[in-house]
Amino acid sequence: MTAPTVNIGIVGAGLMGREIAVAIQRWPALIDHPVRAQVTAVCDINPDALDWFDQIPTVTTKTTDYADLLSDPSIDVVYIAVRHDLHEEMYIAAIRAGKGLLAEKPFGIDRSAAENILEAIRENPESFVRCSSEMPFFPGAQQVINTIRSGALGRLIEVRSSFLHSSDLDLDKGINWKRQTAFCGKAGVMNDLGLHALHVPLRMGWNPKSVFSTLQNLVPTRPGPDGVHVECDTFDNAVLTTDVHLPDGQQFPLTVETKRISPGDKNTWEIRAIGLEGGVFYSTKNPKQVSTFAVVDLPGIGREQVWQHSDSGSQSVWPTVTGGIFESGFSDSILQMWAAFLAERAGLLGDKFGCVTPEEAMQTHRIYDAALESHVTRSEVHVAD
Ligand SMILES: NC(=O)c1ccc[n+]([C@@H]2O[C@H](COP(=O)([O-])OP(=O)(O)OC[C@H]3O[C@@H](n4cnc5c(N)ncnc54)[C@H](O)[C@@H]3O)[C@@H](O)[C@H]2O)c1
Repeated sequence: MTAPTVNIGIVGAGLMGREIAVAIQRWPALIDHPVRAQVTAVCDINPDALDWFDQIPTVTTKTTDYADLLSDPSIDVVYIAVRHDLHEEMYIAAIRAGKGLLAEKPFGIDRSAAENILEAIRENPESFVRCSSEMPFFPGAQQVINTIRSGALGRLIEVRSSFLHSSDLDLDKGINWKRQTAFCGKAGVMNDLGLHALHVPLRMGWNPKSVFSTLQNLVPTRPGPDGVHVECDTFDNAVLTTDVHLPDGQQFPLTVETKRISPGDKNTWEIRAIGLEGGVFYSTKNPKQVSTFAVVDLPGIGREQVWQHSDSGSQSVWPTVTGGIFESGFSDSILQMWAAFLAERAGLLGDKFGCVTPEEAMQTHRIYDAALESHVTRSEVHVAD
């Protein structure tokens, strides 16, 4: 049987719009996926940004008005990658138009916007909406998730989940919308990177009950377009010490780090979970390597605490034609995320790892609100129910 084709329209032809268009081009790498996907349309308010899409042969529609994509019956799904202050309006319009939506984080500029998007989903239950978070689709990250789910860690002692950048260490880097509260949101770096760091913890059921935050605006001005310094009023780094209580009585600290200024790190996503019986660590800094901890019998030595390291290879959630011993990278994780999104939309995800749900995205905003309040009160703040 031939897999049905899903036509995708992209709104926002910037960094992520182009990345997604390229990743979808590699769809034939997926083996026996239940759907075929192709990008057929693109929208950007800047007409020059559309030219790049001439290289994608399946793109037949280019427009500067996103309403054109929403009214086009040939488009099944839209991917919207625009400034955070535009999320609410565009996501709600896409949901009301009956399109499938892979939204970008932070899923609305703040909690109120996320609530309104969620309300639109409730009013249009036929809409299928998920939010983008690709890093957990690295094969090594999947191994960590499977190890945690196996129960091999025993009673949890602590978890640390991080997303770390360093490009803002360059103090001459010009201002852009991601560094201004009006466009990025009050949560600053948490809006940029927090959902990446919270996707796996929330999916594991590790929902913080309270937050103590350390938020830093390390670079309060940056050069504007004319070189004159202007206010750069968003938080650059956020360290959230959260308290997780599980239904079975376990309680442990979950530290969530999101940093634009983490010297030496370039898009480093990592997770470390330690329990009384085992541990796991994975970082995209060494993208193949997965580290596991156990107490084992060593010949001639006896019982020892041992960290072991293994190479994860190329295969993640959805099998691909790529040789198993090859490496996986950022664009592979994007393809895997889309494979999960479109399979789930078709009702065929099964027990495979899925994209961030609207409720999980909503929860990240409750956590950011608690972190913002903690920053002001310098106290531990309960995460709203
Ligand atoms: N998943 C990830 O790893 C990841 C990485 C970076 C950014 N993002 C997210 O993706 C989104 C976009 O980020 P980006 O880095 O691609 O931004 P960008 O600034 O590179 O691109 C945004 C594009 O949107 C266009 N645009 C602005 N207003 C528009 C309108 N009204 N209609 C149509 N197009 C419009 C701009 O002209 C620009 O080309 C944000 O939500 C961001 O947080 C996700």
